[in-house]
Amino acid sequence: MPIKNRFSELHEEVTGWRRHLHAHPELLYDVEETAAFVVERLKEIGVDDITTGIGRTGVVATIKGKSDASGRVVGLRADMDALPIEEATGLDYASTVPGKMHACGHDGHTSILLGAAKYLSETRNFDGTVVLIFQPAEEGGAGGLAMCEDGLMDRWGIQEVYGLHNMPGLPVGQFAIRPGALLASSDEFEIIVTGKGGHAAAPHQAVDTTLVAAQILISLQTIVSRNVDPIKRVVLTVGTFETDSVASNVIAHTARLRGTVRTLDPEYRILAEERVRRVATDTASAFGAQAEVIWTAGYPATVNTEEETRHAAEAARAVSGGVEDATDPIMPSEDFAYMLEERPGAYIFLGNGDTAMCHHPQYVFDDEAIPVGCSWFAELVERRMPAG
Ligand code: NI
Repeated sequence: MPIKNRFSELHEEVTGWRRHLHAHPELLYDVEETAAFVVERLKEIGVDDITTGIGRTGVVATIKGKSDASGRVVGLRADMDALPIEEATGLDYASTVPGKMHACGHDGHTSILLGAAKYLSETRNFDGTVVLIFQPAEEGGAGGLAMCEDGLMDRWGIQEVYGLHNMPGLPVGQFAIRPGALLASSDEFEIIVTGKGGHAAAPHQAVDTTLVAAQILISLQTIVSRNVDPIKRVVLTVGTFETDSVASNVIAHTARLRGTVRTLDPEYRILAEERVRRVATDTASAFGAQAEVIWTAGYPATVNTEEETRHAAEAARAVSGGVEDATDPIMPSEDFAYMLEERPGAYIFLGNGDTAMCHHPQYVFDDEAIPVGCSWFAELVERRMPAG
């Protein structure tokens, strides 16, 4: 089954939007120009109303169907922000801003949702209301949470919510999804170990902080291997190890370890935090040192609800040749997770073909994925709120 014909006609226009956004990337909540561009397009498209400033710089718009007898409201979400990466693609529409790049394809997601909005506004072949959600700060700023905290779900009466992300390595025209956790939660920790600095030749007069921190680091690696059910997915990585000694003949007084825990299961977020605290403080204590643990909770796991995943997969099947509907979860995180904590919904991967992975300076969004993504959003709306 093909993409919707109207999206073949709109392909060039939407690609133009996408390339404009690509050339003008903005970071985190500072997406004023991107949000203004979205608002301009939404006005041209003729949506029913537009609200700015939700979650600081997010944009929310609505399109009403031919009828509203069903009282149904479906939310569709795209992210608008770029990354602090120097682009190395050599494309003629490459970033014009040094050190900033749309290296995760959010320019594509925003344009796809605008393209779907144009079709939905023209046709209105549904019974209910579509809420278009354009969020800032997906890349580490929890813009999705900020929009939810501004009352997104209740204010617009959203009943279910859907989003997509391009996926390098998955052929263009294909989709992948699964019920349950699709992406991991991501928490960070910092362990500050304090011993007693001294002369390297007199260790008996010191408490060797480097050695204590090394013992903690090794012991942390028993948390996943010895405390987690082997069929579950948890990753614990220590990314940095620093001490305050800069000389080979000095025993450090303090050391600092920083790491991250990723998991698909909320219960293991709790367990990991408890174990990291215990291992750090008790190991330090055993050597006569002290450890302070600072835990920073990040994005929760992105968990698709069963029924909405089925609807998302069926819509994908209607517009595409291939839908992998029990794909493996992956361990990056995604702040659409916060919207899925508030409402049932689903997040789907849209094939982006053979390119560098997201967040790489040579990553390229494939514009051939645009009509496929637009068709999925439109199909989903027409299926979830069928016209009477
Ligand atoms: Ni992304």
